[in-house]
Amino acid sequence: MKGVVLAGGLGKRLEPLTRVTNKHLLPVYNQPMIYYPVKTLISAGIREILIVTGGNNAGDFLRLLGNGEDFGIKAIQYVYQKGERGIADALKLAENFVGREKFIVILGDNVLDQSIKPYADQFNRQNEGARILIKKVPNPERFGVVQLKDKKIISIVEKPKRPLSDYIVTGVYMYDHQVFDFIRQLKPSARGEFEITDVNNMYLEKHQLHYNVLKGSWTDCGIFDSLYRANVIMAKQHFGENG
Ligand code: G1P
Repeated sequence: MKGVVLAGGLGKRLEPLTRVTNKHLLPVYNQPMIYYPVKTLISAGIREILIVTGGNNAGDFLRLLGNGEDFGIKAIQYVYQKGERGIADALKLAENFVGREKFIVILGDNVLDQSIKPYADQFNRQNEGARILIKKVPNPERFGVVQLKDKKIISIVEKPKRPLSDYIVTGVYMYDHQVFDFIRQLKPSARGEFEITDVNNMYLEKHQLHYNVLKGSWTDCGIFDSLYRANVIMAKQHFGENG
């Protein structure tokens, strides 16, 4: 299976840290942020990765990640997203890279302290459709919120004012080739973006959206609080491993 890291955007909520560099190049504990999603994909057995970047300092990703030698993988490729039109718009650029295969996408600011292999294995056994990883959080209104009934997802709402649950969609998405057809059908949301939540709802309508509740710690790094939390999670993991 191939993997895609989405690392575009302007990271405006982290100004002034992102004034002269890309959010995904900022440090999280002892590594650049983008190392973590790359390693998460590798934890699923993925050896071919596409980085979709854009905004500031796109060239720095090449200097930092090269061809993936540091990670012991076969290849890292790159594409450039012009403008900031959302996650689904960035994902469109992965179509040539993934072809008709199933693949895993991760947002470049998502930090996990555990392997996603168990979930990727389940996705591998799925004939078709998508799989998302959900997580209970204290501040669901910042995310795509999942409404569950009898352990089934009945809706996903992007950043609702009044969340109907504490479960949110993390930035790890597993898709089959249908995703690109769904993206072509999208219309921009009220915030002017092509939303990944709309894509997931299209799978849901076709009864092809599966999920796992993610074990371990998870955070994005979109705002100062969550960036700080990512540092704490990774420092704890580091000290756990090193004494
Ligand atoms: C995005 C998605 C949201 C998801 C989150 C996970 O939010 O739109 O559904 O829960 O990533 O990190 P954004 O980072 O664009 O605010």
